[in-house]
Order: sequence, then structure tokens, then C-alpha cells
Amino acid sequence: MSLRNILIHPDPRLKKACDAVRHVDTGLQKLANDMLETMHEAPGIGLAAPQVGVLSRLIVMDCTAKDQEPEPMALFNPEVVWVSDDMNTYSEGCLSIPDQYEDVTRPAEVQVQYLDINGKERDEHFDGLWATCVQHEIDHLDGVLFIDYLSKIKRSMITNKMKKLKKELARA
Ligand code: NI
Repeated sequence: MSLRNILIHPDPRLKKACDAVRHVDTGLQKLANDMLETMHEAPGIGLAAPQVGVLSRLIVMDCTAKDQEPEPMALFNPEVVWVSDDMNTYSEGCLSIPDQYEDVTRPAEVQVQYLDINGKERDEHFDGLWATCVQHEIDHLDGVLFIDYLSKIKRSMITNKMKKLKKELARA
């Protein structure tokens, strides 16, 4: 496995709709494992392929608490097929928008269809942090970031901070 470089917003690749995966081959399995390693290392609880510059419909997540057994998941072509009427608000962050956290309200529970790392069709119900995380990550596959749910003024403040951060990183 190897670590991948995580793109920082703003980047045109983070605003693109990603292509469906045709089938889960060894190259994509390796990508999923690299993404899981990159996510754990960051550390984070979710990562989408466009965040490492790959415009394919793949997300990885592990929302287990630190004292629990890890439950790494890779989801190819994930699709939300049901959402609850109940909503939940979480303070969200994103590895492509480091150190910025804002409240986002989303459905509290979702049903998601996807292909697992073996290419097997799955149907899973998510709630709590997992539900927020899976929706946040699927958004990435359509070029949507959590800051897109904020007011224009908040979004541009955060974007300006990230532009500054990228300049600093480029100089370092
Ligand atoms: Ni994110």
C-alpha cells in the first residue's frame, strides 16, 4: 500500500462529477486500500477518490470510535436509495479543507447501494456518524463539498483561507 497526496480545495478536480466504475479490478482494489491507508494516516473517517485526484466513483470510510475494532469500508458506485425524514446536524470537516468545521444538516439515516471491494452488490443502512459520512463522501463524487451547504460569505471566507494555506504549502 502507499499513501496518496490529498488535494486541497480549491482544485478543479474536486468540482467534477466522477465516472462510474465498470468493474472492481485489482487496480481499483489497490486504490481503495491506498485511500484507506491515506485516510487513517491523515487521520480522517472518510475519503473520496477525487480527493486523491482520481475521478472514479469510489469512497472509503471508517467511522468506528478509537477504542473499537476498525471497520474499514470501500464503496464503489455508491448510491443513496432511501433517506429518512429525520434530519441530523453534525459539525463536518473534510481532509481537502483542513481544520475547518461547520454544522451541516442532512438526513439522519440513509440506505446505500454499492459494490464492495470484491465487486459484490451490497445494500446497507447507515445511521449516526456513518450516515453523515457516507452522504458527505458521495457528494464528493458529484463535485459537491460540505462548504457548498454554507452561506456564500462563509464559503468564500473558507475558500480564501485555503488559498492562503496552499500558497504556504507551496513555499514550504
Ligand atoms: Ni470531504
